[in-house]
Amino acid sequence: MPSIICSKLNTILSDILNKLFKLLVISGLVLYVVYIIFFNNPCSYSSILTNKAGHNNKGPILHKSSSSTTPTNVSHVVFGIAGSTSTWPNRKCYIESWWRPNITRGYVFFETFPNNNDFHPWPHSSPPFRISEDTSKYKAYDKHLFTQAIRMARLILETFNVEKQGVRWYVLADDDTVFFIDNLVDVLGRYDHDKYFYIGMSSECHASNFYHSFEMGFGGAGYALSYPLAKALVNNLDVCIKRYPTLSSICSSTISPSLIAPPRPSTPNISLHDPKRILYRLMEAAKVDESRLLQQTICYHKPKNWTFSISWGYSVQIYEAVVLPSTLQKPLQTFTPWSKSAMPFFMFNTRIPSNNPCETPHVFFFDSLERKRGGDYLITSYSRGRARALPAACSSSGNHSADSISKIIVLSPSTKYHHIGNRRECCNVLHATRRNATELKLRDCFENEILP
Ligand SMILES: *[C@@H]1O[C@H](CO)[C@@H](O)[C@H](O)[C@H]1NC(C)=O
Ligand SMILES: *[C@@H]1O[C@H](CO)[C@@H](O)[C@H](O)[C@H]1NC(C)=O
Ligand SMILES: *[C@@H]1O[C@H](CO)[C@@H](O)[C@H](O)[C@H]1NC(C)=O
Ligand SMILES: *[C@@H]1O[C@H](CO)[C@@H](O)[C@H](O)[C@H]1NC(C)=O
Ligand SMILES: *[C@@H]1O[C@H](CO)[C@@H](O)[C@H](O)[C@H]1NC(C)=O
Ligand SMILES: *[C@@H]1O[C@H](CO)[C@@H](O)[C@H](O)[C@H]1NC(C)=O
Repeated sequence: MPSIICSKLNTILSDILNKLFKLLVISGLVLYVVYIIFFNNPCSYSSILTNKAGHNNKGPILHKSSSSTTPTNVSHVVFGIAGSTSTWPNRKCYIESWWRPNITRGYVFFETFPNNNDFHPWPHSSPPFRISEDTSKYKAYDKHLFTQAIRMARLILETFNVEKQGVRWYVLADDDTVFFIDNLVDVLGRYDHDKYFYIGMSSECHASNFYHSFEMGFGGAGYALSYPLAKALVNNLDVCIKRYPTLSSICSSTISPSLIAPPRPSTPNISLHDPKRILYRLMEAAKVDESRLLQQTICYHKPKNWTFSISWGYSVQIYEAVVLPSTLQKPLQTFTPWSKSAMPFFMFNTRIPSNNPCETPHVFFFDSLERKRGGDYLITSYSRGRARALPAACSSSGNHSADSISKIIVLSPSTKYHHIGNRRECCNVLHATRRNATELKLRDCFENEILP
């Protein structure tokens, strides 16, 4: 079982920003704190930000009233990545997995100039780097336990100062954060960038929220600030750093809660035993269809009483029983909490794995992708990870063992899936004799179709 780490750096960065936001509220600025759901894997080492807003988010979707604004695209977003020369050699692969040279805008910030040969020549595939400004003038104010706290707090300022032209959103993240750019742009485009928006999420680890605040966005998945909010923050940054040396209680305790808590999305099981391998696979699927990435689709196979749960581009599970969607939405707790000091461990419901063959799925992992000739469908294949370590089949559902299934093929429409206002997709179970695999075909649900 992998042990999972919530990034320390991110917690600090988020904490500071959170306090700064609150200071802004105190100083009379109208701050809309919007809180939409960015999927984040449970307390993960590499956090993943993706749009899961469509199903559950009933929060404000505030479009600009004037139709003169052009749609938000990737060129309107600037990334400020909190880096460090010591972590970069290991983190570079995360950033390069999503960075689009000459398309994405932004910088990775180091604390010092990287002299080591590993950094030269600087590759075109990485974001350009900059050196954070000297923070020694804040020495008298630096009472934070984390030595780089002030550098982190100034990340927004330094990013803002170098990139202003045509910017609608600033996105701040740690150097192990992975973005799905199309989904990110899609979500940001729903908000009015001329207003004050802070888009992020609280931590998936209960302990982090418990000790810091339930009303703060955590950095694991990154967060976005609209241009006017970033500007206001930049103008007030020094005041807050100087006024609140420990960046602790004063800023955060004086005002009422400002985050709007949304319902939680279902969170798929991301196993973290080898994050890099999973990441490469995920990015392979993401390159073709970000809109369905990790999207959960459920199908029932009546002749055998089986339930299929697809997490697109990642895994497929077969249960040898009819398992309801409300149960499947809760991830099996195959991960461990970052800290056991606050109960419950997670900010979402989990299922505790059991040895009951009716509850334990057969698991298949994503291994390849192809476009169907003719082009209407994408074909993703999933192979059995390892045999389910249970000898018996689920007898109460008819004793139909799925042990013989070694491969699952998922056909999904090659058109983008639109989350907003749409229900989850439905699917049919077929057997593809030609491909010697169980085949699942995603489709729009019929009107009034209910599962199972
Ligand atoms: C993004 O939108 C701007 C208009 O706001 C447009 O000039 C630019 O070409 C667009 N860029 C891309 C990559 O679509
Ligand atoms: C990016 O732009 C630089 C010059 O600005 C150019 O040399 C390089 O070939 C471009 N790379 C890509 C991948 O377009
Ligand atoms: C999650 O991943 C673990 C580790 O690979 C696996 O054992 C488990 O069955 C998976 N659970 C789900 C719900 O996919
Ligand atoms: C499905 O399960 C139910 C009990 O849950 C059982 O009565 C029924 O016979 C099973 N159907 C098949 C095809 O095995
Ligand atoms: C279930 O099926 C297996 C073979 O498919 C058989 O050996 C076993 O006895 C069956 N169990 C029950 C409870 O019917
Ligand atoms: C189909 O898969 C089964 C089990 O993996 C294997 O025994 C069989 O030879 C395969 N058939 C074909 C046509 O590939």
